[in-house]
Amino acid sequence: MQGVEGGYAEQIALKAGIVGRKPNGVSHEQAAAMALTGLTAVSAIEETLQLKSGETILIQGGAGGVAGVAIQLAKHRGAHVITTASAANHAYVRSLGADEIIDYNEADFVEAAKGCDAALDTVGGETGERTLLVLRPGGRAAFIGGPPPPSEVDGILALKPPVRRSAEGMNRVADLIEAGAIRPPEIRTFALSEAAEAHRISEARHLRGKLVLKVP
Ligand SMILES: NC(=O)c1ccc[n+]([C@@H]2O[C@H](COP(=O)([O-])OP(=O)(O)OC[C@H]3O[C@@H](n4cnc5c(N)ncnc54)[C@H](OP(=O)(O)O)[C@@H]3O)[C@@H](O)[C@H]2O)c1
Repeated sequence: MQGVEGGYAEQIALKAGIVGRKPNGVSHEQAAAMALTGLTAVSAIEETLQLKSGETILIQGGAGGVAGVAIQLAKHRGAHVITTASAANHAYVRSLGADEIIDYNEADFVEAAKGCDAALDTVGGETGERTLLVLRPGGRAAFIGGPPPPSEVDGILALKPPVRRSAEGMNRVADLIEAGAIRPPEIRTFALSEAAEAHRISEARHLRGKLVLKVP
């Protein structure tokens, strides 16, 4: 099977300008799992939020693919990281570096994480809309789980990361991996022929880490 762009194919044609190098020390499956997650986390944490050492950030949906990279990147920049996850994923998000974990099934994250400097929402819906409520005046939030909600109070910014595919972005992710700042999220591998089942799991929105389709 041959395609143009996308990933569900044995061979694809790509523009050279968006191809980055595979980082040393990770498998091809791990590198694949770091492409969109890494680019998105870098765009959100570095470019959009410009997170600084000593700041506190709430990362919603810590067990997901993008959030798993974002937690590590935020810690690498010296931030204090609060994240939300169901109880089954607490050990996993702690292993990624989360300082505080809120079980969103048991506690209201707005009450538990008040006064944050920054936030990253990867969940969307009502969770995304309420994420602004954890910020201090002048705080900023990035939204990838849905469009940024309107924000007109206390100088709070609701931002959409401009995630671009580029060799530069991919190489930034590779540099971070090779420096030991971030590692790939947990991976569940499926054969390309199992893509429908992989989609069912992904769309249920409780996958830990990232799915990878393995081409024979
Ligand atoms: N360019 C972009 O803007 C861009 C790029 C990549 C992804 N995205 C979007 O970003 C979102 C996240 O994608 P993803 O692949 O990183 O992760 P995902 O697979 O969509 O997220 C799954 C995780 O979300 C957690 N979760 C579900 N409901 C939650 C809730 N109410 N509160 C806290 N956590 C919750 C689950 O953990 P529990 O089982 O612990 O609940 C699960 O581990 C998607 O909407 C995706 O389309 C956007």
